[in-house]
Amino acid sequence: MSKNNFSVPQEELARQREYTDLVRTVISSRYPQAHPKAFVHTYGCQGNVADGERLKGMLQDMGYDFTERAEEADLVLYNTCAIREHAQDRVFGNVGALKPIKKQRPGMIIALCGCMMQQQSVAEKIRESYSFVDLVFGTHVAYKLPEFIYQCLCSGKRVFDLSGGDGNIAEGLPIRRDGTFKAWIPIMYGCNNFCSYCIVPYVRGRERSRDFDAVLQEAKEVIDAGYKEITLLGQNVNSYNRDLEKDKQFPALLKAISELEGDFIIRFMTSHPKDCTEELLQVMASSEKIAKHLHLPFQSGNDRVLREMNRHYDRKKYLELIERAYELMPELSITSDVIVGFPGETYEEFCDTLSLVERVKYTSLFTFIFSPRPGTKAFSMPDPVSREEKGRWFRELTDLQEKIAGERTASMKGRVYRVLVEEKAKGEGMLCGRTEGNIMIEFPGDESLIGSFANVKVTNPRTWIVYGEFVK
Ligand code: SAH
Ligand code: SF4
Ligand code: F3S
Repeated sequence: MSKNNFSVPQEELARQREYTDLVRTVISSRYPQAHPKAFVHTYGCQGNVADGERLKGMLQDMGYDFTERAEEADLVLYNTCAIREHAQDRVFGNVGALKPIKKQRPGMIIALCGCMMQQQSVAEKIRESYSFVDLVFGTHVAYKLPEFIYQCLCSGKRVFDLSGGDGNIAEGLPIRRDGTFKAWIPIMYGCNNFCSYCIVPYVRGRERSRDFDAVLQEAKEVIDAGYKEITLLGQNVNSYNRDLEKDKQFPALLKAISELEGDFIIRFMTSHPKDCTEELLQVMASSEKIAKHLHLPFQSGNDRVLREMNRHYDRKKYLELIERAYELMPELSITSDVIVGFPGETYEEFCDTLSLVERVKYTSLFTFIFSPRPGTKAFSMPDPVSREEKGRWFRELTDLQEKIAGERTASMKGRVYRVLVEEKAKGEGMLCGRTEGNIMIEFPGDESLIGSFANVKVTNPRTWIVYGEFVK
C-alpha cells in the first residue's frame, strides 16, 4: 500500500489548469507588450521555500515573468512564516511598505500566503487594516493559486481563502526551482508532535507523507536534470510513512534514492530525536551519496524542560543517539536547534544546555530565544525571566559554540575535502563551496567550477570562514 488519503483529486487539479489557461488569456490582452512581472518572496524554513517554488511554477505557467524588485512588479506574493514573532513583524513591515507603491501602480496585485495567514488573528488584521492587500490564502489551498489570480484579475474584489482542515497534498504541480544544482524535495507536510512552544502543527495541519514512488521519481528527475544535491524535507522526516510497511519508510526512501545512478549528494532535515532509529544511522553510514551530516535538534539539555516542551526524549537518550551516530560515522557533522529561555527555565537548567553543547561538539547551532506563539501551550506558561537575562544566557551559549566551532575548523587544517561549489565568495577570484558536513570553505578558483564538486585542501581555517586551495 503506498497511497495516502490526502491527495487533491486529479479533477480539481485539472480545474486549476483550466484557470491557468484563463489567466493566460486575460493577461495577454491586458499586458500586450510584455509578460507581467511577479515578485515572490518566501520567509521561513526550506519547506516553505519548496512551496514557493511551486507557487512560482504555477505563476510561470499563467504567463508571469519574475523580478527581484517589488516596486516594478505587477504581482507581489509574500509566502510567510509564523515560527517566531520577529518573523511576523518583518512581514508586516514589508507589506506596509507596499502601500505607497500600490498607490502609484493601482493595477498591482498584492497577495499573502503561507503559515502566518493560517492564524485567524493575522488574517483578521490584514482584512481590517491592510485594505490594499488583494489576496490572502492559507497553506492548505496553495494549489488553487490560478483560480485566485483569475478572481483578482476579473472580479476586482478582495479574495480570502483560509480553509482549514488537516491539509492535503497536491502532486504534479509545476515547479520553478530557485537553484540549478541544489534541489529541495518535500517528502511530508504538517506535524503531529505539538511541541508546546511550536505553531507549526496549527498552521500546517496533520502529518501526511508523499507517495514513495512520487518522491523517488522527483529525485530521479532532478538528478537527470543535472542537480548535484538533493535535500529531503519534512518537519520530522523520521516519521515519513510511519503507518506503512518498513520498505516504504524513511530509511528505505533514503536508501532507494542513494541507489539512483549519478554523481549527487543527499541531505535531509529535520530529524526528530524521538524517532531517529539505528536503521536510519545504518543507512546513512552505508552510502557515500548520503551526506555525513545530521541535523538533530535537541532544544534543551535539561530533562524537566524537555518534558515541558513535550519532546518525548530525554538527555540520556539524545546523548546515546549521538554516541551511536559517531560510532558508525566518526566523521559525522552534527548540527542542532536550541531554544533559550523556555518559560520557567532556570539558569541551572540552562547550564544543562551548555554542558550538552560542550559534550556533543556541534558543527553549528541555530539558537533561538523563546518566542511566545498564540494558541500554543507554552504561550500561557508563566515566564518570569526577563528578556535581558535571556539575552545574556543566549550570548553565553553562542560564545561557547563559537569556541567549539573554532576548535572544529582548526582540526580541518591540511585535510582535503570534497565540496559542492556554490557561488562566488566576497574576495576577488574567490569561490565558496560546502563540505558534506555543511561547512563552507572559500578558495580561489574559476567560476566555471560553480555547480560541480571540487576537492579543496584547507590551508587557513578561521572560526567562521575556512580558507583553502583547489586541488585536482
Ligand atoms: N520540526 C523541527 C523544527 C522546525 S522549527 C524539529 O522539531 O526539530 C525550527 C526551530 O525553530 C525549532 O527547532 C526550534 O528550535 C525553533 N522554534 C520553534 N518554535 C519556536 C518558538 N516559539 N520560539 C523560539 N524558537 C522556536
Ligand atoms: Fe514544531 Fe515540534 Fe513539529 Fe518540530 S516537531 S515542527 S518543533 S511541533
Ligand atoms: Fe515557518 Fe511555517 Fe516553516 S511557520 S518555519 S514557514 S512550516
